[in-house]
Amino acid sequence: MSIKKASQKNKEFYKGKKIFVTGHTGFKGAWLSAMLHEIGADAMGYALTPENDSLFEKIDGASLIKSIIGDIRDFGKLKEALCNFKPDIVIHFAAHVFLNSCFNNPRYTYETNVMGTVNLFEAVRSCKSIKNVLVVTTDKVYENKGEGALYKETDRLGGIDPYSSSKICMEFIADTYKQCYLLTDKRCVGVSTARASNVIGGGDHIQSRLISSILNSFVQNKDVELRNPDQVRPWQSVLDALNGYLSISRLMYQSPEIYSSQWNIGPLKEGIRTVLEVVEKMQYYYKGNTRYVKTEAFSVVESKTLGLDITKSLKQLDWEPELSLDQTSQALVEFFKRQQAGESEQSIVMRQIRDFFKNC
Ligand SMILES: NC(=O)c1ccc[n+]([C@@H]2O[C@H](COP(=O)([O-])OP(=O)(O)OC[C@H]3O[C@@H](n4cnc5c(N)ncnc54)[C@H](O)[C@@H]3O)[C@@H](O)[C@H]2O)c1
Repeated sequence: MSIKKASQKNKEFYKGKKIFVTGHTGFKGAWLSAMLHEIGADAMGYALTPENDSLFEKIDGASLIKSIIGDIRDFGKLKEALCNFKPDIVIHFAAHVFLNSCFNNPRYTYETNVMGTVNLFEAVRSCKSIKNVLVVTTDKVYENKGEGALYKETDRLGGIDPYSSSKICMEFIADTYKQCYLLTDKRCVGVSTARASNVIGGGDHIQSRLISSILNSFVQNKDVELRNPDQVRPWQSVLDALNGYLSISRLMYQSPEIYSSQWNIGPLKEGIRTVLEVVEKMQYYYKGNTRYVKTEAFSVVESKTLGLDITKSLKQLDWEPELSLDQTSQALVEFFKRQQAGESEQSIVMRQIRDFFKNC
């Protein structure tokens, strides 16, 4: 008897479920909007206006998800959107995310990431339909132990820069609402956090982001500019990460007491590679330029090695990463080439999602 994969279970479970996603106009949000559309969920998003040239705009995201444009700091508007929609499940992506921008705007970062999360949980408390909430944080919540460490969920949290520390606050806020108000309430609302690694996928348009700048260098036949070529990071397909989030929420829906926890969502060990190795994989599939130049590092000091130990998720969830770094790099380059050839982004995204559900 064949064992169903998480993707298959998610495809069946989410059909007709009501999902509220914050940050749906961002990179992960755009892919999740398309994924939820493909598997027949009834989804609503709440986020700021999509940025010019964003993937959400390019795939006409508003045709795939009910889209509400609003600020997470606006408690009244957020609560109204959530309570009117009456979702089963909430997935929280909305955050100010760019390391350098967070460093230069700490107050805005904390208002959005910290108070935005408090606003969301307060709204959740007054919306009785909700069965569980998943808060997406990052591998940057772990205190840097130095070279070669792979972080487990039980490891100490700690991060100095405003992005990391705001994400740590989100972890604590989720735990407080879980223990004081939601899981302990007679409604027994599940609450989890997912600590994700760097995700790779087509349409990541932000110039300052690594993947986008590498692809553009290939096209222009320019040297690839790298801040930290030797930095080791866990790299993962955006589809595997989203499938992980959907698995946690599905399992919390079925058994909130068992699955309300902290979960590392990252690649298998083969996906923990240096920045330069990822560039070389992309170069191999694109047949692009191999030269690179080292550029000035950000004002934020980034750890040289950051890896996630996903043993707990592999053992306790029914999820595992399904795409290797090679498959992920190949899909990324294919996205880019088809985009350059004039195929619509919505068609490429939907095909890659359908292939994911078919092949997994
Ligand atoms: N992309 C990655 O590699 C990665 C890795 C680890 C964790 N994460 C986490 O995943 C989540 C999504 O990341 P992403 O890469 O899609 O980011 P993104 O910057 O592409 O999207 C951020 C989203 O949050 C929304 N947002 C920002 N400020 C808001 C506000 N004040 N009110 C309402 N909405 C607001 C934006 O409108 C956008 O929809 C974030 O929480 C991020 O910390 C991302």
